[in-house]
Amino acid sequence: MLGKLQAARANRSMAGERRIVTVLFCDVKGSTAIAEQLDPEEWAEIMNGVFQYLIEPVYRYEGTLARLMGDAILAFFGAPIAHEDDPQRAVLAGLGILEGIRPYREKIKRERGFDFDVRVGINTGLVVVGEVGSDLRVEYTAMGDAVNLASRMEQSAQPGTVQIPGYTYKSVSNLFEFESLGGIEVKGKAEPVDAYRVLAVREGAVPTRGIEGLTSPLVGRERELDTLRSRVEELVAGRGQVVSLTGEAGLGKSRLIAELRKLSGSTPVRWHEGRSLSYESSIPYAPFIDLFDGMFGLRGDDTDAQKYEKIMAGIAAVMPGRESEIAPYIATLSGIKLTGDADESVKYLEPPSLRGRTFHAVGALVEAMSSREPLVLMFEDLHWVDPTSLALIEQLLPLTEQGMLMLLALFRPQAQDPSWRFHEIATRDYSHRYTQVALEPLDETKSRELVANLLEIEDLPEKVRALILRKAEGNPFFVEEVIRSLLDAKLVIREGDHWRATREIENIAVPDTLAGVITARLDRLDDEAKHVAQTASVIGREFGYDVLGDVYEMPQVLGSSMSSLQRRELVREKSHVPNRVYLFKHVLTQETAYASVLLSKRRELHLRVGECLERREPERVNDLARHFIEAREETRALPFLVEAGDRAARAGSRDEAIGYYRKALDIARSAANLGMARRAYEGLGKALEFAMDVPGALQTYGEMRGYAEEQGDVQMQVSALNKASYVNAFMLGQLDLAKEQLDTSERMAHEHEDNAGLAEMFTVRCGICTMTV
Ligand SMILES: Nc1ncnc2c1ncn2[C@@H]1O[C@H](COP(=O)(O)OP(=O)(O)OP(=O)(O)O)[C@@H](O)[C@H]1O
Ligand SMILES: [Mg+2]
Repeated sequence: MLGKLQAARANRSMAGERRIVTVLFCDVKGSTAIAEQLDPEEWAEIMNGVFQYLIEPVYRYEGTLARLMGDAILAFFGAPIAHEDDPQRAVLAGLGILEGIRPYREKIKRERGFDFDVRVGINTGLVVVGEVGSDLRVEYTAMGDAVNLASRMEQSAQPGTVQIPGYTYKSVSNLFEFESLGGIEVKGKAEPVDAYRVLAVREGAVPTRGIEGLTSPLVGRERELDTLRSRVEELVAGRGQVVSLTGEAGLGKSRLIAELRKLSGSTPVRWHEGRSLSYESSIPYAPFIDLFDGMFGLRGDDTDAQKYEKIMAGIAAVMPGRESEIAPYIATLSGIKLTGDADESVKYLEPPSLRGRTFHAVGALVEAMSSREPLVLMFEDLHWVDPTSLALIEQLLPLTEQGMLMLLALFRPQAQDPSWRFHEIATRDYSHRYTQVALEPLDETKSRELVANLLEIEDLPEKVRALILRKAEGNPFFVEEVIRSLLDAKLVIREGDHWRATREIENIAVPDTLAGVITARLDRLDDEAKHVAQTASVIGREFGYDVLGDVYEMPQVLGSSMSSLQRRELVREKSHVPNRVYLFKHVLTQETAYASVLLSKRRELHLRVGECLERREPERVNDLARHFIEAREETRALPFLVEAGDRAARAGSRDEAIGYYRKALDIARSAANLGMARRAYEGLGKALEFAMDVPGALQTYGEMRGYAEEQGDVQMQVSALNKASYVNAFMLGQLDLAKEQLDTSERMAHEHEDNAGLAEMFTVRCGICTMTV
């Protein structure tokens, strides 16, 4: 029982998380004044009516309703489940609220004679989410400055509008129409915060990648492009094709197709594209709606009658005389309201037969089109496809046997996703005309080329370039985002035609855009597997199964969780014997998982990892030092730091050695650990000597002597003098000064019977003698 309780508690403490969340506040404006004039019951009635309009759009875009207040709501996008496009979803929900409530407002105005309006404020940022409260009542909530700013955005918004700050604006700027509102005062912030009013969805906008102003020609991918081109040529020659282009997020699927289309500009191919959106995977026919919009030139501001006319005309062009047979189904699928005969032909159909006939109609249209000219139907982002569309695409597959049809699907390969079926069926039934092009990360040379192209001038400090490459691991999107975050944080700036790092950059936080993509993947794991990933991330990018087993709170579920992490390709096995060792596939995945762990929990886990390594693998001194430092157990880290310094020095890694010794010195001095302080001083001095940093070495020995004097440690003073004298004599040729120091050290060593010190003193003195004879 006790064990169970502890496990539950441990689990609970993991339930709190650090996350990037988009927070939405919405309230009913002027409610207090209106409420005063009304009977409370009447007011409650109106508000009850309001809430559904506030809540429905939140759910439509898969947000979480965190709180219902008297006349307001608070919703999160990104917690507990992240999507890679949470800011976009929140803004869409905000616009959806304004739009949805309009008829109700008008009704209240008509019936009761007064007006109200809602306003929406949105902001994205780091928060801590989790359950707060006591045993009596808990609530899922988010805390952090980001929440306050969202609330401030709402309070300063005009009724009937959605308002967002500059930071959120950046991530959605190409998807909506905006009006800039300038700076807005926010309590607790010195600088005014830029604010924007969202006016509308931008017509035809699709999520795009890349950094404004920085572009690169296509790097590499010659083979893949060749394959795709030859498939298009085959198609033109009349042979139907089934093609999939797969690769993880950001490897360049969409880009490759854009290049292919540029290259085949003059080829006589009709090309239509249907996109699935992450928040539309439960909307039937979503990619086909998009496809037909493009095919028939339907516009958002067309009336239903105009749209229907366009569809009729489009179909008549390829299937003369059959348009009124096909068009009603295409229109219904697209959500267009029909009238007259067209309406009659669909309105009495039961759903299954409507579906059957719709499939049939689409099939007939595609068949007709592809018998006239080569036709490519491309399904972009098929990993977000809705089940109905997937079934319809499956039904189109046989048409590739007859006409000049290419079905081309782009998706991220996840065997658990429905979209994987496309690949399976194509492999099984269409292997004779199926091509899978699978994108892999770019290699080191190509990645370098990409960085150089994006930043144009190849004089980025090597350290910064290495950092970008290390983080991005060959993923072009990651390359762009890492560069973007360096530019945004002004860590790298442009001066004339050069790029300069403004300060030493050791590491950077995972860019928010990437955190979104990666967190979304982590959130798809079940709770246990996710906790395992978080715990493992504290150990490091590489982690041993045995260490994880010691550290993880519920070792009994570890096996199955590890399998699901591998199945989802977040982690892979690095070696099996003698020990099972795993590796996070991307360093950014590890860093994102780590960033989500609460600071307090991190410390606790680092301590456990440190203690476990101390028992199991005491030779891993670097890791031990790191874990104890992160656990804020500095004194326990100390011996490992010094040892790590010694090892680095022996291996000739001077900079690392210097880093370890300096860190060790700080700790040793504040803990008054004289033995360790002496080793660290000596190590540091030597490392600086090897680095030919003579002034640095002398300064170190000077400090060492001062510190030793202060602490009354004669042997340390003797050692400092001997070493300084060595430097003075052999590196600077200052023989007189060196001898003077040796005289002092000799006297002190004699007085305190420090034989080791004497021996060292004589060695240096002999060296000087030999030099001067
Ligand atoms: N080979 C390449 N050379 C230069 N830039 C590239 C290359 N591949 C991709 N990019 C750039 O990297 C970014 C990501 O590429 P893209 O959007 O095509 O990825 P994707 O595979 O479609 O990702 P997702 O699964 O998220 O849709 C884009 O800005 C693109 O222009
Ligand atoms: Mg893409």
